[in-house]
Amino acid sequence: MTDDHEHGYFTEANSAEVVVARNKNAKDQRLGQVMEVITRKLHEAVKEIEPTQEEWFEAIMFLTRTGQICNEWRQEYILLSDVLGVSMLVDAINNRKPSGASESTVLGPFHVADAPELPMGSNICLDQKGEPMFVHGRILDTEGKPIAGAKIDVWQANDEGFYDVQQKGIQPDFNLRGVFRTGADGRYWFRGAKPKYYPIPDDGPVGKLLGALGRHPYRPAHLHYIVEGEGFEALTTHIFDPDDPYIDTDAVFGVKQSLLAEFRKVEDADAAAKAKVAAPFYDVEFDFVLSRKKK
Ligand code: BEZ
Ligand code: FE
Repeated sequence: MTDDHEHGYFTEANSAEVVVARNKNAKDQRLGQVMEVITRKLHEAVKEIEPTQEEWFEAIMFLTRTGQICNEWRQEYILLSDVLGVSMLVDAINNRKPSGASESTVLGPFHVADAPELPMGSNICLDQKGEPMFVHGRILDTEGKPIAGAKIDVWQANDEGFYDVQQKGIQPDFNLRGVFRTGADGRYWFRGAKPKYYPIPDDGPVGKLLGALGRHPYRPAHLHYIVEGEGFEALTTHIFDPDDPYIDTDAVFGVKQSLLAEFRKVEDADAAAKAKVAAPFYDVEFDFVLSRKKK
């Protein structure tokens, strides 16, 4: 049926079929398949919306501005994918986990590849700003056994909701980030500062779109993790503060029930001394469970 349209004239009724048929010699089969679906769905959307010429031009200009603001540090298209829920959907499709394994969420733009490996227990808050936090837990396999030698790469925003890379010259380099490695018991622990919610970069076209849609740009307070163990699937995830005002309305849809951690306020001086922090502090305990690599 598609072939009938290869040399056919384009009409409103047969628009998608004509375009799909024209692509039938795609050199890459996957590309042909992807473009077929996108063409069908896009034409369907246009037929339902019936945009005016002005509206279609506005859409083109939105995409143009989205590209124009991209640079080495800023990827507005990823941000667009994030606020449309597409980043989380692609993540879900590619990280279907066996039951019991920790769930993943978006990487985000603030990971840096060369954060220092630190002795277990280090304080990653290099400027002593904010409320002290003691974070600890275990890295386990799906049978509950500890994973020795697991690598934990952690990064977080500060008490004002900024990452170090957003405040060069204000925060010390590598503030609130570090890499740790578990011993035989699979345990990890480090000290930091309680993070705050923050807006995703909202001074560009994506921020304007959120505003026009009556949406806020905030992400609830969280800590980012990449956890890796030999023979296990790498886990890119966060843990979230369930008491955050934006916990139910994350701008990028990254929150999952299983990733809510308790940020327990501890006043006790002995507990603070044991954790090597000043009282009061926040105690955050969270175990991560890795799934074995598929053979
Ligand atoms: C983040 O959590 O770092 C983040 C994720 C998506 C968009 C912007 C920021
Ligand atoms: Fe973040």
